[in-house]
Amino acid sequence: MNPYLSQLHPYPFEKLAKLKAGITAPADKANIALSIGEPKHATPEVINQALLENIAALGKYPTTKGIIELRLAISEWLVTRFQAKVNAETQILPVNGTREALFAFAQCVIDSSQQQDALVLMPNPFYQIYEGAAFLAGAKPYYLNTVEANAYLPDFDSVSASTWEQCQILYICSPGNPTGAVISQASHEKLINLAIKYDFIIASDECYSEIYLDENNPPQGLLQSAVAMGNTEFKNCVVFHSLSKRSNAPGLRSGFVAGDAEIIAKFFQYRTYHGCAMPVPTQYASIAGWADEKHVRENRDFYREKFAAVIAILSDVCTVKQPPASFYLWLKTEIDETEFAQKLFAQENITVLPGSFLSREVDGVNPGKNHVRMALVATTEECIEAAQRIKNFINNLN
Ligand SMILES: Cc1ncc(COP(=O)(O)O)c(C=O)c1O
Repeated sequence: MNPYLSQLHPYPFEKLAKLKAGITAPADKANIALSIGEPKHATPEVINQALLENIAALGKYPTTKGIIELRLAISEWLVTRFQAKVNAETQILPVNGTREALFAFAQCVIDSSQQQDALVLMPNPFYQIYEGAAFLAGAKPYYLNTVEANAYLPDFDSVSASTWEQCQILYICSPGNPTGAVISQASHEKLINLAIKYDFIIASDECYSEIYLDENNPPQGLLQSAVAMGNTEFKNCVVFHSLSKRSNAPGLRSGFVAGDAEIIAKFFQYRTYHGCAMPVPTQYASIAGWADEKHVRENRDFYREKFAAVIAILSDVCTVKQPPASFYLWLKTEIDETEFAQKLFAQENITVLPGSFLSREVDGVNPGKNHVRMALVATTEECIEAAQRIKNFINNLN
């Protein structure tokens, strides 16, 4: 067996199932799950229809590169959204959701044959795929704490030159899961300069980029920042985008990777062997998804409504701040976060995710401690009901 497998941590939801095991939640209160970041708004008709209209294409083997129509639709979206001109032939690949792509990317890129450990830098707390990807590629994860004192963003200035030298991939997640924090253009520019100086790749997970609060201030993308600083070839930059959150289509398994043509060419070669081409009907459904912004604006409106309602209720009993983006509330807890989650389930039949299930302790600090993650994915009514029960629960704690 691959010895690296033993390094993998249990997935956060396995830990959550254990935490809840043996507890009977009150039967008179329906369960509300705020634990999983699975969008629950309806998948737009344009996507459903395009999938059905092209179902006959199941009779064809898809290619790794995908049909040109899809790559053109993506390149148009990148221009509109990020003012980034990306070559549809050489700088874009379709992926079956960003999860597999974020994982596969490290397997393709990491060179573990060097004397020194290959490092993969990532935020902490994080989407656990980054860590697993690093382990299975024979690299070492290097965690960058995201704490309130630094606006829930990694403190990139604290990273030493020798760490940057060993770094092969820097995963960034903006907007962040679980904090919703957004990386600025200035930070991107600093990171791009470091990536070029120390020759590492920035893998920017932007799957929450379309879920944001201020309609006039969408989150900055890495390719957008690259263009702004004259790096129009996106040297050392790769972005990961998804229709899962943007278009409420987590089951479609559709996203893309775009950026530096040299890196994309290698990733294309890797993926040819890996065998992960996107089915053609999915590609047509994806074209319809990327081409339509109406459903995305409506989606943001739904989340705004839920954030406003939930925050209005919770702010009576705790300090709670709306993040600039994503659909998560990263709530501070006065008691231990696992105890909070366990008791909340036992008393109110509400499931939230303890922050420490998404993080590791670094230098004596575990940034997931005393936090829980709440995904506002349920209906507005359910989110309001959940907020009222949580308010009640916190009141009873005091
Ligand atoms: C930060 C982050 N990245 C990537 C993903 C993967 O999304 P998908 O594979 O559906 O594109 C998720 C899903 O929850 C996520 O939270």
